[in-house]
Amino acid sequence: MKSSKKFKNRDIESIKKKIEYLRNNILYHDRKYYVEDNSEISDYEYDRLLRELKELENTYPQFISPDSPTQRVGGEPAGKFRTVEHMVPMLSLDNTYSHDELIEFDTRVKKGLDGEEPEYIVELKIDGLGVALIYENGLFIRGVTRGDGTRGEDITQNLRTIRSIPLKIEVDNPALSYIEVRGEVFLTHQGFERINAEREDRGEPLFANPRNAAAGSLRLLDPSITASRPLDIFLYNISYVRDSVFKTHFESLQTLKRLGFKTNPDTIFCRDLQEVLHYVGIWREKKKELDYDADGLVIKVNSLEHQKRLGSTTKHPRWAIAYKYQAEQALTRIEEIIVQVGRTGSLTPVAMLEPVRLAGSTIKRATLHNEDEIIRKDIQIGDIAIIEKGGEVIPKVLRVVKEKRKGNEVRFKMPDRCPVCGAAVFRPEGEVVSRCTGSACPAQLKERLHHFAARTAMDIDHLGPAIIDQLVEKDIVKDVADIYSLDLATLSGLERMAEKSARNLLNAIARSKEAGFQRLVYALGIRYAGERIAQIISQEYSSMDDLIKAGREDLESIQEIGPRVAESIVVFFLQEENCSVLKKLKAAGVDMHRKREEKKGYLLEEKQFVLTGTLEKFTRDQAKEMIKRLGGRVTSSVTKKTDYVVAGRDPGSKYDRAKELGVTIVDEKGFIKLIG
Ligand code: IVH
Repeated sequence: MKSSKKFKNRDIESIKKKIEYLRNNILYHDRKYYVEDNSEISDYEYDRLLRELKELENTYPQFISPDSPTQRVGGEPAGKFRTVEHMVPMLSLDNTYSHDELIEFDTRVKKGLDGEEPEYIVELKIDGLGVALIYENGLFIRGVTRGDGTRGEDITQNLRTIRSIPLKIEVDNPALSYIEVRGEVFLTHQGFERINAEREDRGEPLFANPRNAAAGSLRLLDPSITASRPLDIFLYNISYVRDSVFKTHFESLQTLKRLGFKTNPDTIFCRDLQEVLHYVGIWREKKKELDYDADGLVIKVNSLEHQKRLGSTTKHPRWAIAYKYQAEQALTRIEEIIVQVGRTGSLTPVAMLEPVRLAGSTIKRATLHNEDEIIRKDIQIGDIAIIEKGGEVIPKVLRVVKEKRKGNEVRFKMPDRCPVCGAAVFRPEGEVVSRCTGSACPAQLKERLHHFAARTAMDIDHLGPAIIDQLVEKDIVKDVADIYSLDLATLSGLERMAEKSARNLLNAIARSKEAGFQRLVYALGIRYAGERIAQIISQEYSSMDDLIKAGREDLESIQEIGPRVAESIVVFFLQEENCSVLKKLKAAGVDMHRKREEKKGYLLEEKQFVLTGTLEKFTRDQAKEMIKRLGGRVTSSVTKKTDYVVAGRDPGSKYDRAKELGVTIVDEKGFIKLIG
């Protein structure tokens, strides 16, 4: 007996060790992926580690600890956030808009330092939400919004869901045993568009910009919803340490990085104001290439001793200033307000403008979001409007110039009939979006086809808007399944469709039959079922037949699927029309089963890729995504371990480095071949 118990204890000890090993390993890879953007393992390997840890923690719950990577989403939805006082007030920055004002700032600083010459650090001013994170003995214990600068809201549970925020840091200096760091939570443009697309599907009001979307996501009372929003963070300051350990702001940024925090890579050290002004000029254009909104630069005095001597006013530090770029604006006339019909029948008003040049392109239309927005801004047809292009791709109407009204402007009214099919328009109570109720509305069908064929759905290349328009208008295609009955004769008969293009399209259609269950679920355009939900569903169900059989409770029992999504899926499969489309898809040979990724994919398992130059057929993100999906990984620098360098047009120095090291270089064609 005794010896068996001993053996058991030893066993338990080794399980505990295994759990710790897995945790540290996962945290290491989280840092590589989310903080350093330099992943070392494939998604498949990562998922395997996480699954193993989850299984062990399920069996041995006594070993679950709050810093485990499985515990990012925890706790019950909050009723309300509690407010807490900041240890050090969170001041805001004084703003400037011109070189002259920067010169004045520099003069003030020098005066405050009795003529000493300051060095500066120039950072991007991220347009998100300022937060403070507190770590005690290396553990993330609290996260607070800026609030009014003195008190903020405790949003720890929501911040824990942001994967680039470490739950644990290695404290290598007793001075860091209690620290507060500050940074900006933001959303990338891509993340913002994803959230809005999902909201559009659900008939929810759209967020006006990434900042609002990030703010809305951070203030959700249910952390499991925050977890589904792709929030990110850049840390820019250590606001409290037990003992002062660094001499400069630059050193504190390096410390942040060393501790595993994500810092902005575009931070610049400047010896003097001349250099600062130079970078102000450069970033005016360069900031357009960023995938997130930065509304300016922050210029900070580097020496912490200098900062201390300069001090702060009640509102702003005297050692820092924000240089803001004015959003580019133009003045033009709203000639008409049209209404666009979306895939789920949503009606969106769009302002048709007298063409005007803005931020390097000719603008002819601007989104007006919804009827309420038009009323709120009192926008009328014929008005002269100020349009603005911020970080977003589609320009918006900032406001109209009422002084320029002539008296012949016309108020917009949402039509009560769909402008495309004539069916009644309905605006559910409490919603801001009006919808066309016509189930056979050609505009909806066009959008559904467009969604079905999208790269992230069935990936039918060559099925563009011009072809979709003709197929629907000529009554050739009445639902998405009809795509699979198209033949060469019909397609070649369409306008602007040569036989070769028709053949290409038919090939793409045939290929799409193999897209698999997960993509098909997304492609069907079930309300509320975006890409993430489709992914979750395909992990739980292995085929369409399984999913059709699932009841509301089955679906709701899955984590991340709430009652609304469950309801929408069940209702979708109850509808006669949808069942008939599915039958047709099945008869056409569309694969309705989960792909066996392990067997099929992982073609590139363990292979390391580096991308350089511009690819013609994919964006860099798409190429990365594809490599990852097939089990490979993408790193940023070429080393001996690199298996392939994919060289597009105008490759950079990575190409030369690959040659030097004798690493295999493939061009785009070679890459396509490689990924099959
Ligand atoms: S430093 C005391 N650095 O801008 C100085 N702020 O109005 C504290 N922000 O509340 C701010 N990027 O939320 C700093 N690189 C950056 C920033 C930044 C964005 C935000 C921050 C702050 C606001 C200033």
